[in-house]
Amino acid sequence: MKATARSHSNIAFVKYWGKKDEVLRLPTNGSISMNLSNLFTTTSVEFLPSLKADDILVNGISNSSINHRVSNHLDRIRHFSKHSSFAKVISQNSFSASAGMASSASGFAALTVAGLTSAGITLSEKEVTMLARQGSGSACRSIPDGFVEWLDGDSSEKSYAYSFHDSNYWDVCDVVAVVSTEKKDIATSIGQQSAETSIFFKARLKKMSEKIRECKEYIDKKNFNGFGKLIELEALEMHAIMLTSWPSLIYWEPSSLAVMKLVKRMREAGISVYFTIDAGPNIHVVCLKKDLETINKQIQSIPGVIETIMNSASKGSYLIQNHLF
Ligand code: DP6
Repeated sequence: MKATARSHSNIAFVKYWGKKDEVLRLPTNGSISMNLSNLFTTTSVEFLPSLKADDILVNGISNSSINHRVSNHLDRIRHFSKHSSFAKVISQNSFSASAGMASSASGFAALTVAGLTSAGITLSEKEVTMLARQGSGSACRSIPDGFVEWLDGDSSEKSYAYSFHDSNYWDVCDVVAVVSTEKKDIATSIGQQSAETSIFFKARLKKMSEKIRECKEYIDKKNFNGFGKLIELEALEMHAIMLTSWPSLIYWEPSSLAVMKLVKRMREAGISVYFTIDAGPNIHVVCLKKDLETINKQIQSIPGVIETIMNSASKGSYLIQNHLF
């Protein structure tokens, strides 16, 4: 059976950076995220006995390293199913891949849902998140609805994601200031391997449980300024780890800094606005819906900003009818 799924990318408010188990992709700490309405991946999968190998096209390209990772994930799905056929996979992003907009999150989430459906396997949402996690850690957070926590866990069964508020809960918006659509030099999977070489990494881990509790409490209480301060400091803390790891990871571009400084200026002018950044140069500007248009215009005025993508909270992964092949 051919199946097509759509998954939205997510922005981490409390970040995943470092693994305690590389194979199972168990993170060194838990994380908190929100699914993003206008950044998504649509993936069609069909297992076909006639194929001699997996036939994979991601954004119209067949790339051997991506295909290898996708095939490994299909093997995990084949492991659950009775048949062992190869699969035809076509996947399309609504945005540029690998520039810090979490394409692996939406990509592996959609692959997991379409793959399981195509293979005729029904799992609980918790089990689907555990499987998606093994494709790419952050993918597990793109399965459930809205605002999501991923538990670090010390075994595969204990490291899963769940929704703690649905996508209609809070009108938090995320404007992505796109300053580069180039593929990043160092993939997150590789970059994360050096996290422990930073002298700040142990200090960070000590505070993570408390930070996750506080972040959820701010969201529960819809305390936007408390929340904003926490997520901005958290992003800078993760980048402090990246900057002080060896080999060091410098993901920012001059325009990334220009957007960060604009956010500070807007705050000084009385607007409640904060930023967060993943492993890439693009900045996620976080605000409430009432300020969205004003903030978006200001970001667009910064030289070097190629485009902005406005997002609200989105639902989790779902099946759609329109197949890609
Ligand atoms: C900085 O989920 O891409 O975006 O599990 O190795 O595929 P792998 O890593 P990935 O890492 C995401 C890192 C981050 C922070 C986050 O999303 O929590």
